[in-house]
Amino acid sequence: MRVEGTPGTDVDGPTDRELLRGAVGLAGLAPSEHNTQPWRWRLHDDVLDLRADRTRRLPSTDEGARSVLLGCGCALHHLEVALAAAGRRVEVRRGSDEDPEHPLARIRLGGAADPDPRTARWFAAIPTRRTDRRRFSAREVGTDAVERLVDAARPYGGTVHLAVGATRQAVLDAARDADLAQRGHLDYAGELQHWTHRSAGDHDGIPATSRPGTPAAAYGDMAVRWMPAGTLDQPRSGLDVRDSSQLLLIAVPSDDTVSLVRAGEALSAVLLEAESLGLGVTPFAQPFEVPETRARVRQLALGRHRVPAIALRIGRRRPDAPGIPPTPRRPLQAVLTEEPVGTSVGSTRARRP
Ligand SMILES: Cc1cc2nc3c(=O)[nH]c(=O)nc-3n(C[C@H](O)[C@H](O)[C@H](O)COP(=O)(O)O)c2cc1C
Repeated sequence: MRVEGTPGTDVDGPTDRELLRGAVGLAGLAPSEHNTQPWRWRLHDDVLDLRADRTRRLPSTDEGARSVLLGCGCALHHLEVALAAAGRRVEVRRGSDEDPEHPLARIRLGGAADPDPRTARWFAAIPTRRTDRRRFSAREVGTDAVERLVDAARPYGGTVHLAVGATRQAVLDAARDADLAQRGHLDYAGELQHWTHRSAGDHDGIPATSRPGTPAAAYGDMAVRWMPAGTLDQPRSGLDVRDSSQLLLIAVPSDDTVSLVRAGEALSAVLLEAESLGLGVTPFAQPFEVPETRARVRQLALGRHRVPAIALRIGRRRPDAPGIPPTPRRPLQAVLTEEPVGTSVGSTRARRP
């Protein structure tokens, strides 16, 4: 796979605009809560802006728009990987998204740079990564793999914690209590229903083919967000054997917009690394969507200097687990606005590297 420019591009290779446009296409494969894809891109001259599309926020599930920002961070990281894999340096200026001059991210291409092996692995993982909600194997993922996931998040300011003992219990209790609190709101059930029953023309939501036919409310002691039954087969091997899902926690230094976008970048890095290691992952933000349960995990498990962003159920896939079909994505023109070259203030024509 490569970042596609416009078909018929001449021998000099794609222009910066063509590279950026191709990378936006790959960024669209990023995960987002309920697959809402809450991002908007704007290409003006050879500059690309990322903004949150708050019209796609889940008002009851994601009241604070934290998952909107995490999803945007995932899309930004996918874009960075795609551009780095195309052999270019990437300059990213992050912002609060409060006015047009300070989008969540303003991206410019720098000079040429050979992609490192990790970039190549992450790039290859973009189209094959899936959220896996099925039961995992009885064998834990092992410390080497966990170390790789911890390392993956580091450049983005994210710390990954393997939650065991009292920390694990604190997150699981928070997940249970947040679930109770959220299910108490009529709108919450309506949102879940809406985003799990989308029509093909909507190009979003969580299709039945991504949801187990026999949904588990919990794997062992680990409760996951309840979803309506789908058509995905649970692996049959070792039905009698317990699922050894492990719990990871991604935390960042602060709760502000920039930190949550960075947390999304860290999440994407961990997911792509996990995919390259062949591991199964379900991200779940639920324990941190309710302010009270989020505060409790922070206090019991992390301390004042770290804020929990998202939890991950990770495990080894069972040998007979079939591949999971991809979830839909919105077409490029629905998420990307392109302004003709030379029409934005202070513009310079797109340069070739
Ligand atoms: C911030 C965030 C929160 C998520 N929360 C959940 C969750 O609580 N439960 C779940 O099963 N999946 C969750 N997901 C996974 C999404 O549902 C999934 O990414 C989306 O449906 C697209 O499918 P894909 O990951 O297979 O491409 C979350 C993903 C993100 C980025």
